[in-house]
Amino acid sequence: MLAIMQTNFNGIDGLVYRDIPQPKLTNHGVLIKVTTLPVVPTDWKRETNAHATSEQLTSLPRTIGIGAVGQVVAVGRDRDAALLHHRVLVMNPTGSYSAYLLSENPAFIFPLPDDVSDESAAALTAGPGTALALKEAIEQHSATNIIITGANSVIGLYLLQMLRPTTHHLYPVVSPSSQAYFHEQLPALTSYTPETLPQLDDPLIIDIAGSSALLDAITTHCGHASIVSIALMTYDSHTPFQFVHEKFDPAHYQTFIRQLATHDLIAPIDRIFPVTQTKEAQHYAHDSHSRGRVLVTFNH
Ligand SMILES: NC(=O)c1ccc[n+]([C@@H]2O[C@H](COP(=O)([O-])OP(=O)(O)OC[C@H]3O[C@@H](n4cnc5c(N)ncnc54)[C@H](OP(=O)(O)O)[C@@H]3O)[C@@H](O)[C@H]2O)c1
Repeated sequence: MLAIMQTNFNGIDGLVYRDIPQPKLTNHGVLIKVTTLPVVPTDWKRETNAHATSEQLTSLPRTIGIGAVGQVVAVGRDRDAALLHHRVLVMNPTGSYSAYLLSENPAFIFPLPDDVSDESAAALTAGPGTALALKEAIEQHSATNIIITGANSVIGLYLLQMLRPTTHHLYPVVSPSSQAYFHEQLPALTSYTPETLPQLDDPLIIDIAGSSALLDAITTHCGHASIVSIALMTYDSHTPFQFVHEKFDPAHYQTFIRQLATHDLIAPIDRIFPVTQTKEAQHYAHDSHSRGRVLVTFNH
């Protein structure tokens, strides 16, 4: 079966398309025929840097990806037989970019209702769970003025949906080339650049963009800010700074799936590529302004 593998740290173009054996069903396993996968910034970060994430050091070779959507085609003796033929979202931290994957952790598999598409479900990977961590950071902080960098990002759009309604004053910061897109997505919100931000007292900066230069510009403009970032692990400044990451909780994913079904959560989706163009899909996502999650599909 086809798998997309990382064998070196030469970046996107170092990925290889390999024919590897299909995993064998185990008593504890569920075999899933993969249909749809997300392309996320962590992909190309891990493809260039073994220390790119706070997880353990990347060991190679490895199948890329951590999440997928597919259909259950076989269920092991010790698992719930009712999963057979169900469409599911699956988290598979050991790799998801393969035609079939074996999931052995019951907490990492989420059956999908008919009214949630494969594409929307795939866009839940590395998205709303991280937005929720940022929402909690905002709620735990005393600041009422919240500046959000990279507000048009996939995670930014999830976060802004989750913050409705809010008593905080929100200041989404968006690059000039992404402002029209941002207003299409969230017409009720005003967006800012560092130059158009008003002077704010003791704001909390939620950093999704991960640009030190942008943070420098905002902190110079505002003074006395605090920063919570999901995109930078350190920031060289006297400004109070904290890196946060998603704390995976299966109950959150069940909620996100219900919210997709009721349209209380909208998954931002951009282009969809065939899996045989995974490198092109990653280049496109890396080189373009964020217009929603880029996806790849297996055409079985
Ligand atoms: N800590 C965690 O647990 C965790 C989990 C998942 C993801 N992440 C990280 O969170 C970040 C956002 O992820 P995502 O999937 O939402 O990404 P995304 O949709 O690709 O969005 C990236 C955002 O960053 C902005 N940006 C990038 N470089 C910039 C620069 N130099 N100046 C200003 N803005 C810049 C982009 O603006 P334009 O669109 O205008 O270019 C866009 O708004 C990524 O760095 C990702 O690795 C962290």
